[in-house]
Amino acid sequence: MKLKVVVYPGRFDPVTLGHIDIIKRSSHLFGQVIVAVSGDSEKSSFWQLEQRVAVMEDACQAIGNVKVESFSGLLSDWMVAQGMNYIVRGIRDSVDMSVEWRMAHSNRVLNREIETLFLASSPEVSHISSTLVRQIITSGGDVSAFVPGSVLACLAG
Ligand code: COA
Repeated sequence: MKLKVVVYPGRFDPVTLGHIDIIKRSSHLFGQVIVAVSGDSEKSSFWQLEQRVAVMEDACQAIGNVKVESFSGLLSDWMVAQGMNYIVRGIRDSVDMSVEWRMAHSNRVLNREIETLFLASSPEVSHISSTLVRQIITSGGDVSAFVPGSVLACLAG
């Protein structure tokens, strides 16, 4: 039986093939995936919220049961307001594990109804990070092996 709705939160600055891997696999496990783009820390963002949402929408277009939304403030507050309980996050390595562990516990303390589920990142994309992509873009390199086409289209203007 498929669980109903899962939230996949992140800054997605920018979205990478690692994120898309998690979204696609979640879409097979859940009835609906809500990709929740965080609007916090806008000043330090590489891309502004509006752009991150538009690029994510474009990247998810072909996946039927995915909806893209944005939020600011506490994720747990936003989820309560939307009536949602499940979070999915990807784990690439032991560094991610310790960060995600703390985040999952904190969200559960903030709201006992919230459960976080983890998917192990697919090996072929587990080396990718948004920081790496930003560095390559800033240095004028080719990021086509790391990001979905919508990021490339946005970069091409
Ligand atoms: N494959 C490849 N890369 C992945 C990945 C995967 N499966 N999962 C994460 N990443 C990478 C991203 O590329 C990014 O790389 P970077 O650190 O080099 O930029 C990094 O891991 C994490 O980015 P992302 O997944 O976009 O999300 P985030 O960790 O920045 O998002 C929030 C964190 C938004 C979910 C969290 O800060 C939050 O909930 N904020 C709201 C405020 C709040 O409620 N705080 C309390 C939470 S306890």
